Amino acid sequence: MVKKGDELMENLHLKKSIVLVVDDSLANLGAIFNFLEEAGLEVIVAQDGEIAIQKLEYTLPDLILLDVMMPGMDGLEICKILKENPSTREIPVIFMTALSNTEDKVKGFMSGAVDYITKPFQKEEVLARINIHLERQSLIKALAHKNQLLQEKIEEKNEVQNALQLLNHELEHRVEERTSELSKALKNLQQTQLQLVQIEKMSALGQLVAGVAHEINNPVGFISGNLDHAEHYIQNLIEMLRLYQQQFPSPGTEIVNQAKEIDLDYLIEDLPHLVASMKVGVERIRQISNSLRTFSRSDSKSPVAANIHDGIDSTLLILKHRLKANNVRPAIEVIKSYDDLPEIYCYPGQLNQVFMNILANAIDAIEEVATGKTFKEIKHDPTRIIISTELEKSSDFVIIKIMDNGVGMSEEVKQRIFDHQFTTKPVGKGTGLGLSIARQIVEKEHGGKLSCVSSPKEGTAFIIKIPLKV
Ligand SMILES: Nc1ncnc2c1ncn2[C@@H]1O[C@H](COP(=O)(O)OP(=O)(O)O)[C@@H](O)[C@H]1O
Ligand SMILES: [Mg+2]
Repeated sequence: MVKKGDELMENLHLKKSIVLVVDDSLANLGAIFNFLEEAGLEVIVAQDGEIAIQKLEYTLPDLILLDVMMPGMDGLEICKILKENPSTREIPVIFMTALSNTEDKVKGFMSGAVDYITKPFQKEEVLARINIHLERQSLIKALAHKNQLLQEKIEEKNEVQNALQLLNHELEHRVEERTSELSKALKNLQQTQLQLVQIEKMSALGQLVAGVAHEINNPVGFISGNLDHAEHYIQNLIEMLRLYQQQFPSPGTEIVNQAKEIDLDYLIEDLPHLVASMKVGVERIRQISNSLRTFSRSDSKSPVAANIHDGIDSTLLILKHRLKANNVRPAIEVIKSYDDLPEIYCYPGQLNQVFMNILANAIDAIEEVATGKTFKEIKHDPTRIIISTELEKSSDFVIIKIMDNGVGMSEEVKQRIFDHQFTTKPVGKGTGLGLSIARQIVEKEHGGKLSCVSSPKEGTAFIIKIPLKV
């Protein structure tokens, strides 16, 4: 019999399992101890509940055999205590009970036992039951372990998933950032392109104007040179005529008639005036031609020394037709207050473009004020542009202020005037490029500063700050 039990244990590889046996009867304890140990199990014994619980504090068995009927704590009580303790809860408990006691068996199951064996013991049966429960317990443990592993895997997977999600978010964020960077760059590029086109147009126009001015210069040169001679010759001829008149007071009817016909006296008196006014006209043409050349001077790659006042004056001359009186308003007054400025190293053609844009805007703003006012009202409070220049010695800057008493701007408009293509003017009149280009020229090309002070109805001042040397 013992041998059979041994084989059974060997087969099931449960030899190393520990079994706690609790029984008040020493005889019973001894018998069970013997045959369990023979079967290769490690056996711990306790004679009552207290001792059993004490022993459990040191060693946790794989299975507990528990007598139901004991003095003091009975088996059911002990079982309840074991099931309430997390460290012993999972240990399978098998009750040992008398064969006939059905009530005990039911109570035993209810208090958490997994099985029962009946006294007197049948060794094989006891071993078989112990085996089943040890095996079951080990399966449960293995399952729990697998479960634990699975749980860990799931957690790992969740972590990976979370990390992936985070990465995904980050990626999305980066893509968004890149997209916005790119669209900003694109916008910049478009702006630069437009400005380049505008600058290119201006420079082409400038070359044309400079060419025309140059072509005009020669003929104007010989008209003005020959006018001097002509004046001289005419003077001589008139003197000659006077001499003839003195020497020959009665030249005959034909000559007298002809003199009357052509109103000789008036002719002689008017001819010098005529020549003088021709000279004034030619001088004007020469001035305009010079101004055109100054205004449209094409810039070289490196800065050149230039007189800022010449630039402003030539710009004013080109805008003269817009400053003159027209049918809605009297002429716009231009007041200049120039400081003694040295030549500055700059790109004069570009700066002229800045003056042109700002002055043209000032005239537009004044025109807007003038519409809706009578001549009388304007005469009372004349429309004017004040241009002042000043050398800021301490920091080697030149400051040019261009002020107008036009419509002025609201804070909202002022915030946006340097924006590309921002305009408050009707289609066809404004392009919204003037100030954005002006700022680019002053700040990017010259390292200066273009700012603006304005309030509605009061007027506007643009302040251009340019270093003496770029
Ligand atoms: N001197 C000024 N007085 C009032 N508003 C001005 C003045 N200069 C510029 N502005 C405002 O700034 C806007 C932008 O000017 P600008 O860039 O030259 O473009 P545009 O003249 O083609 O409108 C103008 O439409 C106008 O509203
Ligand atoms: Mg403009």
